[in-house]
This record gives sequence, C-alpha cells and structure tokens, in this order.
Amino acid sequence: MNRIGIIGAMEIEVEALKQHMENVTLKTKASMEFHQGLLNGKEVVVVKSGIGKVNAAVCTQILVDDFQVDGVINTGIAGSLKNEINIGDIVVSTDALQHDMDAREFGYPKGQIPQMNVFSFVANARLRELAVDTCKKVNPDISVFEGRIVSGDQFVASSEVKQELIQEFSGFCTEMEGAAIAQAAYLNQIPFVILRAISDKADNSAVTDYPTFEKKAAEHCVRLVEEMVKNI
Ligand code: ADE
Repeated sequence: MNRIGIIGAMEIEVEALKQHMENVTLKTKASMEFHQGLLNGKEVVVVKSGIGKVNAAVCTQILVDDFQVDGVINTGIAGSLKNEINIGDIVVSTDALQHDMDAREFGYPKGQIPQMNVFSFVANARLRELAVDTCKKVNPDISVFEGRIVSGDQFVASSEVKQELIQEFSGFCTEMEGAAIAQAAYLNQIPFVILRAISDKADNSAVTDYPTFEKKAAEHCVRLVEEMVKNI
C-alpha cells in the first residue's frame, strides 16, 4: 500500500498522530481537515471525520477521490460488548456491520443493507494480522481481540441495548463510524481495518466511564497505528 488514510472521529483520536507527522500539507474539504504527510516514514493522510456514519462515509470517499489512498485504517474508541474485553483493551475488526440498519419489514435480517450482497464488510486479512502482532508488541499490558464491530448512530449506554447487539450480531464492541468506513472501502474496493480501544462497557456505567477512560484508551490506538504503518 502506497498511501494510507487514517480516520478518527474525534480530536483525541487523531491529535497525537498529527503531531508526529512530517512534511505535512493541509487541505480542507467538506469541513474536514486532511493532513497529508509522513508518519514514521509512511505516506498517510490523517483526518478527523466527525462523529457518526454519514461523516465517516463522506470522509472515506474524499480520501479515495482526492488523495488516492489505497487502504484505510479507522482508529478510535468503542464500548465493549463482551465481559472479557475490558476498558483499555483493543478490538481489531474481523468484519463490521451497521446495527441500526433495519429492513426486516422486507424480510431482511436486522443489520442487512437491502440489495447489497454482503451482510457484513470483511476487513483485510493482512492489516488485521499486522495490527494484532503490532499491538502485542507495543501494548503488552492489555489484551487484543479480533471480532465483529457493530456501528450505529447511537451511543450505547444501556444493558438492554447491549444485550440486543450481542444476541443479534455477536458483536465484540460498538461504536459510531467503523461500518460506514468499511462500506465505503468495500464500494471502492480498497482494504480497511478498524482498530478500537475500549473506553466503556456500553451499559449503564458507560456515561461515567467514557469521559474517565477515553483519553487512555485512545492512546493505546495511537501507539498501535504509529508502529503499524511502518510495516504496511
Ligand atoms: N464509543 C465509545 N463508547 C461507545 C458506546 N458505548 N456506544 C457507541 N459508541 C461508543
């Protein structure tokens, strides 16, 4: 891969990456600032997309059209959907889907986008493997998991919603952008991977845990992305 797009939804997810870049040129489009330059010697474009699936999809398409990226990494934080995945741990996507896509009235299973021939968007195997190996090296104090990431325009902070996401989709974690980036990557036939550090448990404790742990969690992803790009 020659040029990698790196998307975070929020400033805390991308600010350290931007600080560590060299030879940066800045271009603004669709109210998003695209920072093109070198990260650890690798050509990258780092951008804060803003929150939610629409922002994430628009951002990914600009990366493809205007910057010709040939791969996308989505980095950030997420709510855990598994007891054994703790705050600070990292989930590397096997695949991603939109948990709020619902056309069951027409016979589609929840999460399935009507008239698309995939149920979930599968992450690139090489990027996945590289992420897991790199994570073990740079974040030895936490655990790294590989599993499905479920995205929706919803901050999940209730045990009932959490249980639905587990039962319906067997999700490992939930967030608000990954599957939209995955879908845009799929449509453009470029590889992607989603890397998410856990900031909360997506249950009734999420609203208090999230602000307490978001910064620490985001740091784990930054460390992972910086080392990972060296070897892409
Ligand atoms: N990002 C971090 N925690 C989240 C949660 N509980 N729901 C949705 N997105 C999140």
